[in-house]
Amino acid sequence: MIDFKDKIAEEISKVLELTKEELKEYIEIPKDTKMGDYALPCFKLAKEMKKSPVIIANEIKEKIEMPNKYISKIEAVNGFLNIFINNEILIENVLDEMESKKENYGSSNIGNGKNIIVEYSSPNIAKPFHVGHLRTTVIGRALYNMYKFLGYNTIGINHLGDWGTQFGKLIEGYKRFGNEYDLEENPIDKLTEIYVRINELCKEDESVLDDCRNNFKKLEDGDEYCTQVWQKFKDLSLKEFQRIYDILDVHFDSNNGESFYSDKMQEVVDILRKNNKLLESQGAEIVDLEYKNMPPLMVTKSNGSTTYATRDLAAILYRARTYDFDKCIYVVAYEQNLHFKQVFEVAKFLDLDEKYTNGLIHVPYGMVRLKTGKMSTREGTLIKLEDILKEAISRAQAIIEEKNPNLEGKEDIAKKVGIGAVIFNDMSNNIIKDEVFDWDIMLNFQGETGPYIQYMYVRTKSILEKENYTMNKETVDISELEEHGIELIKQIYSFNDIVKQAVDKNEPSIISRYLIDVAKLYSSFYNDNKIIVEDEKIKNTRLCLTYMVGNVLKIGTGLLGMEMPDRM
Ligand code: ARG
Repeated sequence: MIDFKDKIAEEISKVLELTKEELKEYIEIPKDTKMGDYALPCFKLAKEMKKSPVIIANEIKEKIEMPNKYISKIEAVNGFLNIFINNEILIENVLDEMESKKENYGSSNIGNGKNIIVEYSSPNIAKPFHVGHLRTTVIGRALYNMYKFLGYNTIGINHLGDWGTQFGKLIEGYKRFGNEYDLEENPIDKLTEIYVRINELCKEDESVLDDCRNNFKKLEDGDEYCTQVWQKFKDLSLKEFQRIYDILDVHFDSNNGESFYSDKMQEVVDILRKNNKLLESQGAEIVDLEYKNMPPLMVTKSNGSTTYATRDLAAILYRARTYDFDKCIYVVAYEQNLHFKQVFEVAKFLDLDEKYTNGLIHVPYGMVRLKTGKMSTREGTLIKLEDILKEAISRAQAIIEEKNPNLEGKEDIAKKVGIGAVIFNDMSNNIIKDEVFDWDIMLNFQGETGPYIQYMYVRTKSILEKENYTMNKETVDISELEEHGIELIKQIYSFNDIVKQAVDKNEPSIISRYLIDVAKLYSSFYNDNKIIVEDEKIKNTRLCLTYMVGNVLKIGTGLLGMEMPDRM
């Protein structure tokens, strides 16, 4: 697509002693469209040029040669240079792109040749998959899609929590009371129960804790019984997780979790030792991080077993070699901020190329706060995601039942709407913010929600179907586009840039907010303008706009991981 910002910067650079790249840093998109499509706040140049912003703005305005292919009007207002782009060129450009790229509109290949790892979901074996894991799953998948859309080679990894001292405990619990439980049915609930029981026993009796620690040591050493029991826990858990992944339609390129690194940690220890980074502390081995004002990172425990952090370090080594990553993104709750700061710091001592250590990125997200009484459970009990997803679907079903009881394919639609509502809610605000989980808010068809966007999409779809419309840019008459129409096309134009911004910041909510804006704008357009009118020119122009809006809504929600219903 034409990069208007680039073109404008180029024009200005011809009349100023600044490079195009420098100018691009300064040029902004004004909030109020009356102030132009782009603006250069000249106070940013005032110091260097030793002139007042007002004078600078006026001078640039005078010097830029008009008429200009890309610029229709320039104004100097209060030290701002306001630039209005040539709408006709923009609209033609959007029409060309849309017609040629269709469902790939907005995609690009800027990421070609770059490898991006997105690590997400990563639930813990034998523990419930809870709402926190829903956020990483949904956000991670969105990031994965977004990078892919821009041409990056993207690798999705589910770093399963399937290793660690807790399995020593669980094995001990299973040994002691496993025969009281039928693990085939609701295995995770039962394993959780076993885990709670053995923990209590450990508190009462120190020797039980020793047995547990021993079990994990044995597991690390490949003991047959321990491995077999652990594998059973893992298989049962994965089967449960898979049901959730199926509902969400989430996939991974690799499921190499913590246990995958059980034989790859010695190297980490060896390198750290060779580099004199390991200190002994009460039998354990640690890396001092005092100089960074952080607590030390424990690499091996006093009984010789490894830690969560050591596995993360081994994973970094492995991923650097296997995937040659440019970025390795960890979508993990902000509770683990310190952990990742420590791990990324220690990774600098692993003799890796800086490319890799600079590419380690923790993308933290906020907690999920539960609103309704039913969802806030007693302390210690986590809410199971599967129940939430099922409730979302049944609530969507109830709404459909009430509003449109004769709708065909109700069940499938309820699923798309219910799950879509949950997914959108997870990313409707900056992901670092704590999320409020409130059914009434997220399922409000009039609110800033997933279902609202789906609803607007379905509207576009039904209009287009009625007219049997396929896009043909030749039938569009630009002069028939009114204010809202032009504004909409400008929004559609910015879609690719929105995805780039979202990728640069690892912030999917940039896309969700954009989609809300597009849907709202279309809604105003639709309220002010009949689409199906007598005049063929006007009708075709409005139909094309409708098609483009629908397409962008579908592509954008697809990036977020939502599915669009055809009817609602
Ligand atoms: N399994 C962990 C948890 O549920 C998350 C793993 C995060 N990823 C990592 N590489 N440490 O809390």
